[in-house]
Amino acid sequence: MRDLLLLGIETTCDETAAAVVRRRADGTGAILSNIVHSQTEDHAEYGGVVPEIAARAHVEVLDHLVARALRAAGLRLDEIDGIAAAAGPGLIGGVIVGLTTAKALALAANKPLIAVNHLEAHALTARLTDKVPFPFLLLLVSGGHTQLVAVTGIGEYEKLGGTMDDAIGEAFDKTAKMLGLPYPGGPAVERAALQGDPERFALPRPLHGKPVPDFSLSGLKTAVRIEALKIAPLSEQDVNDLCASFQAAVVDILADRVRCALRLMRHQGLKPSALVLAGGVGANQSVRRALHKVAADGGTRLAVPPPELCTDNGAMIAWAGAERLARGLHDGLDASPRARWPL
Ligand code: KG4
Ligand code: ZN
Repeated sequence: MRDLLLLGIETTCDETAAAVVRRRADGTGAILSNIVHSQTEDHAEYGGVVPEIAARAHVEVLDHLVARALRAAGLRLDEIDGIAAAAGPGLIGGVIVGLTTAKALALAANKPLIAVNHLEAHALTARLTDKVPFPFLLLLVSGGHTQLVAVTGIGEYEKLGGTMDDAIGEAFDKTAKMLGLPYPGGPAVERAALQGDPERFALPRPLHGKPVPDFSLSGLKTAVRIEALKIAPLSEQDVNDLCASFQAAVVDILADRVRCALRLMRHQGLKPSALVLAGGVGANQSVRRALHKVAADGGTRLAVPPPELCTDNGAMIAWAGAERLARGLHDGLDASPRARWPL
């Protein structure tokens, strides 16, 4: 097999992104270009992503981003082997923009189209950055998803546990909003937590010790609200302490649920080559530190892409497209955009 060059397009939420990656014949990869246009400022005044604004913003910039990604990689469209776009899950208006653009490019250049599942792309990024072999345990923690998955191959995903209510990133975002911190909440909470006391507030760790690695975050969020109301009006130090206590609870919850999932995988006779941390919350340094130890204690290692590849980007879509195309998997021009698309 020869090297494959893939163009990847990401438009499922509030980042418009395009990238080119190379997948070498030996299965290793390299990022040739990776351009992300964040719409954060367009949505900041609304305190969250507005789907209609997101879709329009994708339309405005995507063509330019694709051209820039190709230029930065030093390639013409006809030198690319396949065109990958995230076909879901996500905000449907944005998904339609990215997938339709990819279809038009694939048609014009007569190249295969790969309709990529955004969650699969997060899952496989660690194989691009860290050469992680199968099987591995995936902890996917983003704004819309919180899942523990046993990954045994491309397209072979067994969900071990998930959230019963809010996603972890969503809990960060809602907590930030409640405390008057800017959107997106994750980085803002992490910054505030650096100056705070994680032991000042005793917050719950829902489902701690339960034998199935599910998550429940809404009670934790409510507990933060109750503590905040008790001491309102909040000083800057109060906010910092609430953020630190919230983040410490999230870290404990993640550590406990991952330990549980590692045990389950072992019971199934699977020896995970790594614990792979993926999704935007993977950018959080406290989460990374704690899971590093959990993985080592569990006889494996933590594999986590650099922060800019944990949040949404085009390289992860291009890489997932390359992994699929290398196995002869591609899609017709009738591939449908999907708001919901479980792994
Ligand atoms: O994967 P991602 O970029 O988009 C989705 O597919 O959802 O994840 C975005 C989520 C947001 O909820 C954001 O607040 C959270 O990841 N996030 C963080 C951090 N950076 C981003 N959460 C905690 N700490 C961070 N440093
Ligand atoms: Zn994502």
